[in-house]
Amino acid sequence: MAFDTLITNGIVVTATDTYPADVAISDGKITALGQGLPRENTTRIIDAKGKYVMPGGIDVHTHLDMPFGGTNSADDFETGTRAAAFGGTTTLIDFAIQYKDQSLRTAFDTWMQKASSKATTDYAFHCIITDLPNARLDEMNEMVREGVPSFKLFMAYPGVFMLDDATIFKAMRTAAKIGGMICMHAENGGAIDVIVQQALAEGKTAPKYHALTRPTTAEAEATARAIALAEMAGAPVYIVHLSCNDALEKVREGRDRGLPVYAETCPQYLYLSLDDMDKPGFEGAKYVFTPPLREKWHQEKLWNGLKQDHLQVVSTDHCPFCFKEQKEMGKDDFTKIPNGGPGIEHRMSLIYSGGVGKGRFSVNRFVELVSTTPAKLFGLYPRKGTIAVGSDADLVVFDPDREHTISAKTHHMRVDYSMFEGIKVKGMPDVVMSRGRVLVQGEQFHGKPGQGNFLKRATYTGV
Ligand code: URP
Ligand code: ZN
Ligand code: ZN
Repeated sequence: MAFDTLITNGIVVTATDTYPADVAISDGKITALGQGLPRENTTRIIDAKGKYVMPGGIDVHTHLDMPFGGTNSADDFETGTRAAAFGGTTTLIDFAIQYKDQSLRTAFDTWMQKASSKATTDYAFHCIITDLPNARLDEMNEMVREGVPSFKLFMAYPGVFMLDDATIFKAMRTAAKIGGMICMHAENGGAIDVIVQQALAEGKTAPKYHALTRPTTAEAEATARAIALAEMAGAPVYIVHLSCNDALEKVREGRDRGLPVYAETCPQYLYLSLDDMDKPGFEGAKYVFTPPLREKWHQEKLWNGLKQDHLQVVSTDHCPFCFKEQKEMGKDDFTKIPNGGPGIEHRMSLIYSGGVGKGRFSVNRFVELVSTTPAKLFGLYPRKGTIAVGSDADLVVFDPDREHTISAKTHHMRVDYSMFEGIKVKGMPDVVMSRGRVLVQGEQFHGKPGQGNFLKRATYTGV
């Protein structure tokens, strides 16, 4: 027996098991697992002594090369997937946006064009629907056939992305019939807009008013409404970027009733708070994204939600805009600050450090949150999201003891600041592989633009 690559002496970690084993790879797949696998004629041996061997991270919420707020997110599919790989993420699901009067296929084709020659890791798409007359409902099935079985809908951003309840309900009913998943941006955009206009009229233009005009109740109300609409439609619903305890309670209630309700949160809501928006000058603009940062006490509720499975996934909502020139577009008016923050690179280390390192949950739960459940919910399992014979060899040799201080000076994202500047993490990827190829080894990047594959995903079947 000869292998292309053998990862030796590591501790294999999946969502369910932790055990010492060598991992053998041939033709991009995992071909054998076990102790003392034969080394003869193996082309490359990677020693993982003292390290974990985990499935590659899956980030199901990114916005690369996205036009938004009068500018474009700063990472494209090359720089974004490269930064992701440095952080141990080997698959991402980005969003193809359908604009008014466009077909869903146009959105898909446009985003395929952005990604296909640039991505260094594998990628897939959700489709953002912003305009859904009855005549277009069948296009959702066309997307499912293309391997895009999930659709993001917005209850916020009136006049840009927001859909009314009737349209949301119709989309959900269609999703229920075709095995689709609805990903919901749950904030009451109408109410928020009224509060925003009042703030502006009162001369409240600083970045912190972005957060102060988007109350947690607006998120909780929309979350409850999304769950109710999904229940009536018989569809699964996945609440994206959940930021606060009020919304978490609504998800928990839905799940307690046995509904197929799921939710993700993001590292920014676990590590940052409203206090960060109070930094001097225009600094608060670095943290302008939606939903906004909340009071600090919400953080522990969210960590607990991850532990208790009230929350199932950690994604990043990576949507980077440079502080200079991009965030500065809103210097005199917080509504003109492009919404979004950079995070694709540090999800794994932040969640390992804060979750496993702080004793909040096990290393298996960590793998479940950042890789296995994302794969299961979004039709990629068992090709991705686990370590098993036959799965893609998307693997991370993870050093649980390596320490790092996050900084814009050393990160690989194409953005001039870090939301997590100065935060110390313990637990970092050493080697990152995509389908058996070494993408990252220490500080070296070996990936090439265009080598990432588009992943056709299967329909939703539950977790
Ligand atoms: O502020 C954010 N989250 N920007 C990206 C768009 C979205 O709503 O996910
Ligand atoms: Zn959103
Ligand atoms: Zn987003």
